[in-house]
Amino acid sequence: MNYKVPRGTQDILPGQSEKWQKVEEIIRQLCQVYRYQEIRTPIFEQTELFQRSVGDTTDIVQKEMYTFKDRGDRSLTLRPEGTAAVVRSYVEHKMFGQPDQPVKLSYIGPMFRYERQQAGRYRQFVQFGVEAIGSKDPAIDAEVIALAMDVYETAGLKNLKLVINSLGDADVRAAHRDALIKHFEPHIGDFCSDCQNRLEKNPLRILDCKVDRENPLMATAPALTDYLNEESAAYFEAVKKYLDVLGITYVVDPNLVRGLDYYNHTTFEIMSTATDLGAITTLCGGGRYNGLVEQIGGPESPGIGFAMSIERLLLALEAEGRSLDTDNALDMYIVAMDEQAKLKAVELASSFRAKGISTELDYASRKVKAQMKSADRLDAKWVIVLGESELEEQAANVKNMELGSQEKVPFHDLVNYLTKHKVQ
Ligand code: HAM
Repeated sequence: MNYKVPRGTQDILPGQSEKWQKVEEIIRQLCQVYRYQEIRTPIFEQTELFQRSVGDTTDIVQKEMYTFKDRGDRSLTLRPEGTAAVVRSYVEHKMFGQPDQPVKLSYIGPMFRYERQQAGRYRQFVQFGVEAIGSKDPAIDAEVIALAMDVYETAGLKNLKLVINSLGDADVRAAHRDALIKHFEPHIGDFCSDCQNRLEKNPLRILDCKVDRENPLMATAPALTDYLNEESAAYFEAVKKYLDVLGITYVVDPNLVRGLDYYNHTTFEIMSTATDLGAITTLCGGGRYNGLVEQIGGPESPGIGFAMSIERLLLALEAEGRSLDTDNALDMYIVAMDEQAKLKAVELASSFRAKGISTELDYASRKVKAQMKSADRLDAKWVIVLGESELEEQAANVKNMELGSQEKVPFHDLVNYLTKHKVQ
């Protein structure tokens, strides 16, 4: 039997995992600066949570969830996204009662969607997301967008495009819904069966259909922006003003329809304009979800957030030909010539590591030459060779591989010497 990773998943191997760590470090630092505290929720939740929040008629709920019954006959689902669980937790732990609103939360973790596998689309992927819950100040919308842009820019991406839209409030959506039904109804027979089902239940989802994307009625469908009422339009204007203040450029796209039901008012996506990226160019998606907390059983607490997958961020970096500054340097390789020397090598390695000096040694009883080759391959900054004479003298020659220089240092002084020279 030949075992392989399940379709749509991947192993992240050394060489690649350092890049993940670097991105996670950038994210953690920025979340700290913007003050989005980490929340960790379970990998699975009650199925109904996603049905109710992401929406019954969405592709995610209808086709993409990993749903299973546990031994107690409960229907559970591997989380396809993070917002529903964070809002559930906000309600369950009564975070709405905290004096400082909005509560600003962030998360990094695996999400699961049964999607057709292609570059940039996986069945298990890692999302970094934030949620700011408990405020309808347009300035927080701009802050959330700024944080997403900051992550990409700090990682080194240059070819970015921010697209924003407003879906308005409940009244706006109701008026738009009627207009959509009127628009599509006479020709609904030309659409796929999913769209036919969506017509009455949720016509906005038709605009999101992957099957009927090319149907000319899509392009002429009534735009939500034409139905914005005064209040919604004013809110959208205020968000744009804050983005201007932050120096963030954006394009307004009235056709930006997100694939989840909980959105209203501000929605946005960040795309990569790198030419080498392939078909999937959306790196990040988010928006406002006033009403979701109430829907999940809490008091009125308007929220906004976004999520981006680390996979797509790394693909975008690759497409732009940029590399991350990863830190995988080896400080010291200890070469041991015999059994006695090996004992000392193990002891010294332990004292170096205790001071944060990364150290490697041979565990394959290889000859000195082979050990030196390893040190080279691993790009060690220093090498010491331990043999009979070193043990006798209780001192070793510290070779600096970058400079080609060496210096004799007594064993008892090695830690000090290396610590002092490490930062130089
Ligand atoms: P979403 O647009 O479904 O929104 O996903 C957000 C991001 O997750 C996408 O832009 C992409 O980076 C990544 N993503 C989604 N599916 C895949 C996949 N199959 N493979 C790789 N990456 C993927 C949400 O999930 C919302 N919860 C975002 C949000 C948070 N809105 C408000 N708060």
